[in-house]
Amino acid sequence: MNKKPLIIIGINDSHDASASIVIDGKLIAAVSEERLQRIKSMGGFPKGAIEECLRIAGVKKEEVDYVAVGSKHVSVDNLYNIVPTLTIKDLYKLEEEYWQPTLYQNKKIKLKDIFPNYKPKGTIYYPLQKIPFGFNRDLKESDIKRAAEIRKNYIAEYFALPSEKIFFIDHHTAHAYYSYYSNPFRNQNKKTLVLTSDAGGDGIYESISIFENGKYNEIYKGHSNTLAPIYSYITLLLGMKPNEHEYKVMGLAPYAKAHEKKGPYEVFQNALEVDGLQFKNNPEMKDRFKYFGDRLKFYRFDGIAGGLQDFAEKLITTWVKNAVKKTGIDNIAISGGLFLNIKINKAISEMSEVKSLFVPPGLGDESLPIGASYVLLDQIKNTSLENVKPLKNAYLGGETDPKDVEALIKHPIIKKYYSVKRNATANDVAKLLKKGEICALFSGAMEFGPRALGHRSIIADPSRRESVIKINEAIKMRDFWMPFTPSVLSERMSDYIVNKKRISDSFMTVSFESTDLGKKDLAAAIHPYDLTARPQRVEKEISPVYYGIIKAFEKQTGIGAVLNTSLNIHGKPIVRKPVEIADEILSNADVRLDNIYVEGILLSKKQ
Ligand SMILES: [Fe+2]
Repeated sequence: MNKKPLIIIGINDSHDASASIVIDGKLIAAVSEERLQRIKSMGGFPKGAIEECLRIAGVKKEEVDYVAVGSKHVSVDNLYNIVPTLTIKDLYKLEEEYWQPTLYQNKKIKLKDIFPNYKPKGTIYYPLQKIPFGFNRDLKESDIKRAAEIRKNYIAEYFALPSEKIFFIDHHTAHAYYSYYSNPFRNQNKKTLVLTSDAGGDGIYESISIFENGKYNEIYKGHSNTLAPIYSYITLLLGMKPNEHEYKVMGLAPYAKAHEKKGPYEVFQNALEVDGLQFKNNPEMKDRFKYFGDRLKFYRFDGIAGGLQDFAEKLITTWVKNAVKKTGIDNIAISGGLFLNIKINKAISEMSEVKSLFVPPGLGDESLPIGASYVLLDQIKNTSLENVKPLKNAYLGGETDPKDVEALIKHPIIKKYYSVKRNATANDVAKLLKKGEICALFSGAMEFGPRALGHRSIIADPSRRESVIKINEAIKMRDFWMPFTPSVLSERMSDYIVNKKRISDSFMTVSFESTDLGKKDLAAAIHPYDLTARPQRVEKEISPVYYGIIKAFEKQTGIGAVLNTSLNIHGKPIVRKPVEIADEILSNADVRLDNIYVEGILLSKKQ
């Protein structure tokens, strides 16, 4: 008789809520709630994402054996979906009317006094009417306890499982397991040093652990590395949205001249330093927004971005160097939101002390469900932990129903403005790119994590600088200083990208130097100022349609890559269903998208 497979649903119910399904140790699907609810970084109980994972795996809710929750505690403000809901203006108000009087004048202020009419965006599912809105620090102990109980009971009731089948896993342990078990190097039976860092989870900002033959040993954890929250506050000080637009500060950094960066660099250096494995914060830095606001007000925006990025790279490479020195382990894997910073990752990859580096896709809190599921398997001593395979691709979001493709074709905007060519070939798309046109590409299973990897992308000829202007102005309303990225045929990677240590280059999670040919062929898909690239290696077996299009483009032009950017409109998540291309992107009066290739059908704007 066949044994029933062991089914684990993983969830993250804080900001960037998400779910995953692991069956007998095999990761089958992972989806972010933002794609379902169409709200970036959406938090709360990820009901839509759970249902989607069950659908993809063909599993009924009643068949689930265990639930792994990717944090022991979620603060009440996060249960209220505060991250996506508060605007930049709200965050300034919060600083001036809540944090500064609280931290500098010891005033007793409540969050609900600042936002008396607060309503969270989207559907949270938890019965919030039973929990007062506030930061944990201004709520009663009994309210915080009740919120935790409500969260636990809701999850147990939803899955109809007894509480002993629901595991609440430490946040940073989940980050560490995700990176280690997704890492292709772990099969070499070598020790791996796993470092995690983020803006805080379960009271911890950073951790260091060693995995050897699957055995986990946490050697350090702390809440002293405040770099991620500092980066978020600088994002806000520069007028952008924290927890979302940090990458724009990073993208701005290379434009800064040395003399502009010098002053801000010193400000950051005085605020935070690394000491062995720990960090030391300047005690004057009570409120980071005010601390840096006061000290940076005479410096230019680009110098602030450049100074911060230089400082961040120096700080983290020193930390990694200290960890390698202490442990003697030079195979590194990293995870946690701080490492969304591809330039920090580049700096780590180039350290002489580092032999190998793995940076998984979706390494913010959206991957906590996956890591938590692996921790659960370890905790219950289940042998299927041995079945966990390295993550070869990030296409974990399920294929599209043909009915959903037809829904796009029947959409009034498509019927009125677009011609439809069925059975379109890779050559047809390549020809359009060669002519200098841009093409939306919707094909195969949806990507997991923030990067579009050719399944929900907009693509163009990477050698034409006018592609940048065309996409920025005609399609995306993107920020003018932000670079695009190249998707490169696997066999052409070394022609364009300098990657001597064979660092993971499949997920756009690390930046690299470009070769001379890369600077020419990928001129529009690398950073225009420092000429580095955040590439995606495209392999035929993993992504046949995308590979086929790039191969056809190579045959026509000699260039083995395309420019790739995500298929979404600014401020919205990447599309999940084809019809969202019409509803969210084409319906916008400022958008002129000439070509859409959707599951083998080419839609072209009528002349
Ligand atoms: Fe985290």
